[in-house]
Amino acid sequence: GHWTRVVVAIDGPAGSGKSSVSRAAARALGYEFLDTGAGYRSLAWLGLERGTDLEDPEAVVGLLDGFDYAIGTDPDDVRVRVGDVDVTAAIREPRVSGAVSSIARVPQVRVHLNDLFRSLLDAPGRPGIVAEGRDITTVVAPDAPVRILLTADEMARLARRAGELDGQSDADVARQVLERDRRDSQVVDFMTAADGVLTLDSTQLTFDETIDAVVSLIRAAID
Ligand code: DC
Repeated sequence: GHWTRVVVAIDGPAGSGKSSVSRAAARALGYEFLDTGAGYRSLAWLGLERGTDLEDPEAVVGLLDGFDYAIGTDPDDVRVRVGDVDVTAAIREPRVSGAVSSIARVPQVRVHLNDLFRSLLDAPGRPGIVAEGRDITTVVAPDAPVRILLTADEMARLARRAGELDGQSDADVARQVLERDRRDSQVVDFMTAADGVLTLDSTQLTFDETIDAVVSLIRAAID
């Protein structure tokens, strides 16, 4: 590949644990970490702040003009900023989760964010970076030396997500997660592994076992 350092690409659906697993694996290896979903969430947050009609693709593209977004790639400091606002917590709110699919399906948004993600992958810094999302293995970094699809049965994914979002009933959370995956998978297929992508099913694994498995896959691939 053309990357200046080890790039690890990890994709998977909501609740597969890819974010926390990718971050922990990056920490274990002394790598950086990139949560690409945070980029989509930040743009959705901006649109909600401005009262933009997120169902109007032209209005969504307008948000990209001057979109000043910064994301921390230190696994121990993943703060996210839009303009001069720290949006780290705000982008996890249900209103953002509910709006983000609408902006993620606009092609110009994907092209714009992908350019940004690629420049972060290639930036000087630690010897490697773990990037996670929906299309890292296929679109953002299809030539990454390590590409993993992290999956888990629907029941396991819903159980994990239910534990994460308090204040909402488990049934509500389940409905939202499934609906978001359904909408997102119309844009990019993150449920089946592309050619050469390793599938890691975490259904029967604990969090620590999943991290170990990811770290082992990375070590084996770069040795
Ligand atoms: O991983 P997440 O739930 O934080 O992602 C938020 C949204 O962003 C998700 O609904 C789909 C979209 N997304 C995407 O389309 N492509 C990516 N590489 C990452 C996220």
